[in-house]
Amino acid sequence: MSRLYLSVPHMGEGELGYVTEAFSTNWLSTVGPNLEAFEAAFTARMGLPSVALASGTAAIHLGLRLLGVGPGDEVICPSLTFIASVNPALYLGARPVFIDSTPDSWNLDPALLDDFLSKRRREGRVPRALIVVHLYGQSADMDPILETCARHGVAVLEDAAEAVGTLYKGRPAGTLAPIGAYSFNGNKIITTSGGGMLVAHDKAQVDLVRFWSQQARDPGIAYEHTQMGYNYRMSNVLAGMGRGQLEVLDQRVARRRAVAFAYAEAFKDLEGLSLMPQASYGLHTNWLSTFSVDAATLGTDRDALIKALAAEDIESRPVWKPMHLQPLFAGVECVGGAVAERCFFNGICLPSSTNMRDDDQARVIETVRRTVARGRSRSRSVSDASA
Ligand SMILES: Cc1ncc(COP(=O)(O)O)c(C=O)c1O
Repeated sequence: MSRLYLSVPHMGEGELGYVTEAFSTNWLSTVGPNLEAFEAAFTARMGLPSVALASGTAAIHLGLRLLGVGPGDEVICPSLTFIASVNPALYLGARPVFIDSTPDSWNLDPALLDDFLSKRRREGRVPRALIVVHLYGQSADMDPILETCARHGVAVLEDAAEAVGTLYKGRPAGTLAPIGAYSFNGNKIITTSGGGMLVAHDKAQVDLVRFWSQQARDPGIAYEHTQMGYNYRMSNVLAGMGRGQLEVLDQRVARRRAVAFAYAEAFKDLEGLSLMPQASYGLHTNWLSTFSVDAATLGTDRDALIKALAAEDIESRPVWKPMHLQPLFAGVECVGGAVAERCFFNGICLPSSTNMRDDDQARVIETVRRTVARGRSRSRSVSDASA
């Protein structure tokens, strides 16, 4: 039996066709027809101007620069996220401050955000920007978040790296705030092996990001530069993968959801093991099938499940370690944190690939059920012995 990974690329003939075309026409660099077509298709899907970049991290970095984030600025971010949400704030010399999640969605808690911004306003130091994250394919509750930020004059960027295909009240996650960033990293719901996209409501901002992403070379034949730039543009080869992947995004979303709900169905009699919340305001893609383990009720803890799966050559992983628990951010202010900690200590992500075979998913289910049954029989024998 081969190793079963958490989330792997799922390619088809369409992607191969566009990549082959890039080779046969020799458009192998950071210009070419695949790039134009990928951006046009993404714009059609999301309804906003788009620019294809080398990574989601690059998109967040340039998005924060668009928002004017600079040295010494305070930037808010949910504590429960992957570190790539926050690193770009550090690149710009900004100082992060973390806010806890709500148990309803595991995303940024709008009420805590409101309290925090009111406090900062009283102190006379309003943060520059908020990075709001849509975790594991589920949108944050954007209406109250955007309303609060507008009231306090805080700029908003959506980190939709994990939320390509996610909806909030019928609208694509990543398009609600003025700027959104997506990732096509190798483990994402659709991938370009590595890559990202920035969208913005203002086309001039997207054009500026495209300019910055190519070393900010001024027009004209001389290599003249008036602004600092980056080598952040996506290649035309990878944009070919992106074109093909975008064409099958709806199928991929349907399959990720089916995988998550199949696990939930198979575990429905296991009290103490539950699929992460599915907020009613949106479409949660369940990019990763993520479960919460209540060890006291289930009789088995999260780490025992990860170990048992690993022994069967099945990859699983904990939910993201909150930023306020990271050594890198020791001493950084965090508003609350108990919800993020609970999600982390009890959360497990199970294999979720769209090309996973049913018998492979059955292997995961069987391993989890066997581990839980063993844990329960062990605790029964302990209590029998002590009776
Ligand atoms: C929440 C979050 N933000 C940002 C990123 C960064 O994206 P990339 O890997 O494309 O740089 C990722 C994923 O990798 C992510 O999960």
